[in-house]
Order: sequence, then C-alpha cells, then structure tokens
Amino acid sequence: MALASTADPRSVTILGSTGSVGTSTIDLIRRNPGAYVVEALTANSDWEQLARQAIELNARSVAIGDPHAYEPLKLALAGTNIGVAAGPESLIEAASHQSDWVMAAIVGAAGLAPTLAAIRRGAIVALANKEVLVCAGDLVMEEVARSGATLLPVDSEHNAIFQVFDFERMDTIEKIILTASGGPFRTLDRAAMALKTPAQAVAHPNWKMGAKISVDSATMMNKGLELIEAKHLFRMPQEKIDIVVHPQSVIHSLVAYIDGSVLAQLGSPDMRTPIAYTLAWPARMQSPSPRLDLAQIANLSFEAPDPVRFPALRLVREAVSAGGSAPTVLNAANEIAVHAFLNETIGFLDIAEIVEQTLAAIPVGPIDTLGDVHNFDKHARETAAKLAESYARSAA
Ligand SMILES: NC(=O)c1ccc[n+]([C@@H]2O[C@H](COP(=O)([O-])OP(=O)(O)OC[C@H]3O[C@@H](n4cnc5c(N)ncnc54)[C@H](OP(=O)(O)O)[C@@H]3O)[C@@H](O)[C@H]2O)c1
Repeated sequence: MALASTADPRSVTILGSTGSVGTSTIDLIRRNPGAYVVEALTANSDWEQLARQAIELNARSVAIGDPHAYEPLKLALAGTNIGVAAGPESLIEAASHQSDWVMAAIVGAAGLAPTLAAIRRGAIVALANKEVLVCAGDLVMEEVARSGATLLPVDSEHNAIFQVFDFERMDTIEKIILTASGGPFRTLDRAAMALKTPAQAVAHPNWKMGAKISVDSATMMNKGLELIEAKHLFRMPQEKIDIVVHPQSVIHSLVAYIDGSVLAQLGSPDMRTPIAYTLAWPARMQSPSPRLDLAQIANLSFEAPDPVRFPALRLVREAVSAGGSAPTVLNAANEIAVHAFLNETIGFLDIAEIVEQTLAAIPVGPIDTLGDVHNFDKHARETAAKLAESYARSAA
C-alpha cells in the first residue's frame, strides 16, 4: 500500500542519495511503485552507485559534487535521457529544480547551500542534514519563514518530537527531552576511550549510519548537534532541552507539558520509520521497519548523560550560550577533527579537545549573513586542521 490518499505521484529530489539516509529513502520509494517520480539525485563522488540509482528510478537528472566524477558518470548514463552535471554548483542547481519534496541528506556543512536552494523555492524539505541548522540555524529558519517551505525533521529524535509537539499551544510545553543511545563507548572510562579505533567508533550498537554521524554518536557530539537542531526547529531555549541516555533507542524523544503529561514517540531503531513519516507527510505510508515487541524488549532504561566523560555535551551547551558564530565554529572544527580521526591521524579523545581549542582560538562574532557563516566556517576549519596536524605530530 502506498500513500493513503494521493492521486498524483509526488516528485522528489534526494540530496545525498548514495548515503545511509539516501539509500533508506530509495528503499521506501522502491517499495511504492507509482507513488513517486524522481526529479534529481545527488552524490559527492560515488558515481557508480549514483548511476545505478538513476537508471533504476528513471531519474530526470543527477549531480555529483566532485568534478572528476563527471566523465565516468556521463559514460555510465550514456544512452539514457538522464541529465548529468558536476561540481558544487550543480548540487545547488539540482536542489533548485522544481520538485514537491526534497530529502536533505548530504553530510556536513557542505549541504547548506543545496538545502537552502530547496527551502528558497518553498519545497517540502525533509531535513536529515542537521549540520545545516547547527552552522546557520537562524538564517535557515528565516528563509523557511520567508519562502513558506515546510521543514520536516528526519532525525529520529526530532521526528519524534515533531509528532507529539503542540505547535498551536507552545506555552503549554515545559520542555523537550532528547533521548541518546550513549553510543558504543557509553560505559567506558576515558582511558579506555583513548585507545578506540575508527572501526570501533563507527560500530554503533543500535543504528547503522554513515561514518561521520557514527563517530559523532561515539563522542556524543551528535546529541549536542541535535540539541542545537532542536533549539531551531522547535524554537526552544537550551534550558528547556534535556538529554537523557536511553541505551535501547526505543523511545525516540519526549515532550513534557505543564500539566505533567509527557508524550513520546516509540519505534524500533530503523531510520525508515522517520523517513517514511516525512515521505508520505501529511499522510502515512507502510514502512518495512521491524515492529516493536515491548514484551520481548521487557526493559527500558535511562541514565543521566556524563559531560565529564563526554565533553562534547558541555562544549555544545557553552557554544549555544556564547551564541553568534560559536555553533558554526564548533560544527566546522568537529567535521575536521572527525575526518582526522577517521583517517587515523588523531586519537578519539583528541576530537573534543580540537573542538574546544578551536572555539577558544576564534573570538565569537555575529552571524548576520551567509557570508559570515562561510567566513567563520573557513576560519574554524583552518584552525582545527592546524591543531589536528600538531596532535598527529605529537602522537608520531
Ligand atoms: N544515517 C543515519 O541514520 C542518520 C540519522 C539521522 C540523521 N542523519 C544525518 O543525515 C546526514 C547524512 O547522514 P548519512 O549517515 O546518510 O551520511 P553518509 O552515509 O555519509 O552519506 C552522505 C551523503 O552525502 C554525500 N556527500 C558527502 N560529502 C559531500 C559533499 N562535500 N558534497 C555533496 N555531497 C556530499 C555522500 O556522497 P558520496 O556517497 O558520493 O560520498 C552521500 O550521498 C548527516 O547530516 C547525518 O547527521 C543520519
């Protein structure tokens, strides 16, 4: 069964179609023949998978960030009518083409410009790419208000909150509570964490995700980025956003109301549930996610997060309090440090240290324009890269 009550197929664009969220989105589209037409698909360098997806889904066009991938992609699509473009501008172009619905599933601040292009034309934007709101939240939300775009959260926590959040009576909401799995190193002390490899960090106990978000989960920076994301999506001050560790990832997040009621959304840890929610919105569609068997799960547990073992949680709250450019700097430094860790040039604990030192090195300034975002992002990347080099040298 497809969409509950839609006559015409919904036209869709998937930014980051070759990633974890992108392929889960395609899995749902594949299971609903006739319900969707694919306008554009984008990737960064994986031209082979992009070409396969485009042919299977009969996409109108594809765009790839890496210009070197243009020739092989073009060749792989020879004999089809699928339009091919390459380079960072081509991603913005792809997002600008008319389509009803856009999945924003690029990883990192690289997704900002394409996501904004989709927002500016008033599309329904399913937002997985949380870094977009972390690095430029106020500007993005202003564009959403100006264009009339619909922003639907894909992150399972924010999708959960979206489903139980009373937007009409926000004064009745006391706080929102983000649940966190605690990641693969939840119970470890810092000495044990220091020895962990990238392969161990990306082995998340509950979720199968891309490498960057998996490392963010291990440092718990992911929950910090989600706090910033929630602040923008739900217009809540950080004092009204709590984090609780819930290792089973069954309760995806909660909203507490002034009368003492707490509403939650539950489900098995499978991204196809929140993606399906956004893909069919405002209807509902079938999803193949495993169904919850509460009797079999038997126990749900909760614990307070530990900002000493996981300093990323403290850094995020400090960056939100500092305001202005601090979240942009935090995000950029984190991207560089995670990349260095994945390349095995720095250790696991160095990630948060590099973020902290980058924040300390760059005075906070205002973010009034996208140019400001770009400048602070660039400055932070350069600063963090130098720090990462010095950590790598001292480890060698
Ligand atoms: N995975 C999850 O379960 C999950 C859950 C909640 C939120 N999210 C968020 O969703 C976003 C995507 O996560 P993911 O796990 O799907 O990541 P992923 O598996 O690493 O996929 C990232 C996608 O973005 C593309 N990409 C990477 N760098 C790019 C660049 N510089 N320019 C343009 N495109 C680029 C990749 O293309 P190539 O394949 O060609 O490299 C790929 O299509 C992240 O912001 C993440 O935090 C993910």
